[in-house]
Amino acid sequence: MATSEVRLIRSPISVIGMWLTTVTAVTFLVVFLADLLGLHTNPYIGILFFLVLPSFFIFGLILIPLGAWVEKRRRDRGLAPAEIHWPRLDLNQPGQRRIAVGIFALTMANVVIVSLAAYRGVEYMDSTQFCGQVCHEVMKPEFTAYQDGPHSRVSCVQCHIGPGASWFARSKVSGMRQLVAVARGSYSRPIASPVQNLRPAREVCEQCHWPEKFHGAVVRRVAEYSDDAKNSESLTTLQMKVGGGSARTGGATGIHWHTNPNTHIEYITTDAKRQVIPYVKLTDASGTVREYFADGVTPDQLANGDRRGMDCIDCHNRPSHPMAATAERAVDSTLASGEMPKGLPFVRREAVKAVKASYPTQEAAAESIASTLREFYRTQQPAVYNAQRQDVERAVAAAERVYRRNVFPEMNVQFGTYLNNIGHMDSPGCFRCHDDNHKTKDGKAIGQECDTCHDIQ
Ligand code: HEC
Ligand code: HEC
Ligand code: HEC
Ligand code: HEC
Ligand code: HEC
Repeated sequence: MATSEVRLIRSPISVIGMWLTTVTAVTFLVVFLADLLGLHTNPYIGILFFLVLPSFFIFGLILIPLGAWVEKRRRDRGLAPAEIHWPRLDLNQPGQRRIAVGIFALTMANVVIVSLAAYRGVEYMDSTQFCGQVCHEVMKPEFTAYQDGPHSRVSCVQCHIGPGASWFARSKVSGMRQLVAVARGSYSRPIASPVQNLRPAREVCEQCHWPEKFHGAVVRRVAEYSDDAKNSESLTTLQMKVGGGSARTGGATGIHWHTNPNTHIEYITTDAKRQVIPYVKLTDASGTVREYFADGVTPDQLANGDRRGMDCIDCHNRPSHPMAATAERAVDSTLASGEMPKGLPFVRREAVKAVKASYPTQEAAAESIASTLREFYRTQQPAVYNAQRQDVERAVAAAERVYRRNVFPEMNVQFGTYLNNIGHMDSPGCFRCHDDNHKTKDGKAIGQECDTCHDIQ
C-alpha cells in the first residue's frame, strides 16, 4: 500500500513539483544567506529572488499533491486495481515512522521558507531601492531629487504609504496598477502631481515633525548672480516667520498657524495642479467660520471644484523632490555653494545658456554642455582658458550635474515642470490665496503685506 502511494507521487507532474521546490528552496536559502551578509545590491536580483522565486516555490508545492491527484484519477478510470486504499499509518514500523518524521520536518522547513520569503518580499517592496530604482526610468526624476533632498534618509514608503494595514493594502493595489502601466509603457510623462489620494500629511509628516514644536523664525539666504563678467552676486536675507504655537501657549502665530491643531482651513481648487483657488473657508479655534471668495468666482466653480483640507503639503509640496524652478536658480545655487567657480568670467551666463538648451537625453546633454562650455572659453576667452583650465572643468562638471539633477527629457521633466508652492516668485504659491483678492462678504481679504510672512534685509 505504501508503495502504491509512493508511486502516485512519482507521477511526472508531482516530480516536476518536487524538483521545482527543491531547486528554488536551495537557491533561495543561498541568496537569503548572501543577503544577510550584505552581498546583494542590485534591485533586479531582489525582485528575482524575493518575488519570483517564492512564487515558483509555492507553485511547485501545489504541483506535488496535484500530480498525485491527477495520477489517482487516471488509475481510477482504467489501470487502477480496485483494492487501492489510503495508507494505514503505523508509526511502530521504522520505515513508516521515518517517512512521517521526514514529511513533518520538510513541511516545517517549507513553512519557515515561505514565511521568510514573504517577509523579505514585503520588506523589499518597501525599500527605497525598490521604489526608486526598479522602474528607474519612471521614477528617476523623483529618485534623483530625493537623494539630494533633506529627506534622503526617510524611505519613500514613510511618506507615500505610512504606517497601518489599510494604507499598506491600498498601496499594493495601486502598485499593481502602476506595474501594469509600466509594463505597457502607458504611464504619463511626467508623472502627474499632486498625487491624488496621497495619505493626509498630518498622519505622515507629524510622525517626525510635531506641529506644536514650531516657533520663532528661520533665516533664508537667497543668492542671485548676474550675467556680467564678474558674475556679480546679490544677496537677499529673509527672516521667515514660521511661528507655530500650541493650545498650551495660547494663540498660534506666523506661517505655521495654518496647520495648528486649532485652525482648520478648507479650500476649493478648479485645476489639476491646485493652482487656482476660488474659495477658502477658515474655522478658527472658537468655531467661528470665515469664508473668502476670489474676485469673479462663479457658483459653477464652487460646485465642481475639488474640496480639500489644507495641510503641510499644500505649502511643502516638494519636501522630498525639490527641483529647480528655472535654470538660473539651479546655476545660482551651485555658484552659492562654491561647486561652480565664481571667479570664472561669464560662467553664470554661459552655464545657464548651456543647461537651458533642449537635448533628447541626459547623455546627449552632458556631452553637449561640456563641449559648448569648453568651446566658449577656448575661442572667446583664450587667456582665461589657459590660466583657469581647472575652473573650466569644474564649471563643466557642475553644469552637467545641474542638468542631470533637474531635467529628465525621457520623462518630459524640465525646469519648472513641478511647481513649488513655498514662496511666490516662480509660481503663485502663497499668493494663490494671499493676493488681497480673496475677500469675505464684509470685505476682509487674505492679505499680502510682506511682513506678515517675512522680514527682508
Ligand atoms: C518626505 C516625504 C516624501 C518622501 C520621503 C518621498 N516622497 Fe514622493 N512625494 C512626496 C510629496 C509630498 C509629493 C507631492 C504630492 C503632491 O503634491 O500631492 C510626492 C510626489 C511624488 C511623485 C509624483 C510626481 C512628483 O514629482 O510630484 C512620485 C513619482 C514620487 N513622489 C516618488 C517617490 C519616490 C520614488 C520616493 C523614494 C525614492 C519618494 N517619492 C519619497 C513626499 C515624499
Ligand atoms: C521619518 C521622519 C520624517 C518624515 C515622515 C518627514 N520628515 Fe521632514 N524632515 C525629517 C528630518 C530628519 C529633517 C531634517 C533634515 C536635515 O536637517 O537635514 C526634515 C526636514 C524637513 C524640512 C526642512 C527642509 C530644509 O530644507 O531644511 C521640511 C520643510 C520638512 N522636513 C517637511 C516635511 C513634510 C512636509 C513631511 C510630510 C510630507 C515630512 N517632512 C515628513 C524627517 C521627516
Ligand atoms: C502655509 C504654508 C505652510 C504650511 C501649511 C506648513 N508649512 Fe512648514 N514652513 C513653511 C514656510 C514658508 C517655512 C519657512 C522655511 C522656508 O521658507 O522654506 C516652513 C518651515 C518648515 C520647517 C523647517 C523649520 C525649521 O525650523 O527649519 C519644517 C520642518 C516644516 N515647515 C514642516 C511642516 C509640517 C510638518 C507641516 C504640517 C504640519 C507644515 N510645515 C505646514 C510653510 C508652511
Ligand atoms: C489655501 C489658502 C492659503 C494659502 C495657499 C496660504 N495661506 Fe496663509 N492664510 C490663509 C488664510 C485664510 C489666512 C487668515 C487670513 C486672515 O487673517 O483673515 C492666512 C494667514 C496667514 C498668516 C497670518 C497668520 C496669523 O498669524 O494670523 C501668515 C503668516 C500666512 N498666512 C503665511 C502664508 C504663507 C507663507 C503661505 C505660502 C507658503 C501661505 N500663507 C499660503 C490662507 C492661505
Ligand atoms: C503669504 C506670505 C508672504 C507674503 C505676504 C510675501 N511673501 Fe515673500 N516669500 C514668502 C515665502 C514663503 C518665500 C520663500 C522663502 C523660501 O525660499 O523658502 C518668499 C520669498 C520672497 C523673496 C525671495 C525670493 C527668491 O528669490 O527666492 C522675496 C524677495 C520676497 N519674498 C519678497 C516679498 C515682498 C516684497 C512681499 C510684499 C509685497 C512679499 N514677499 C510678501 C512668503 C510671503
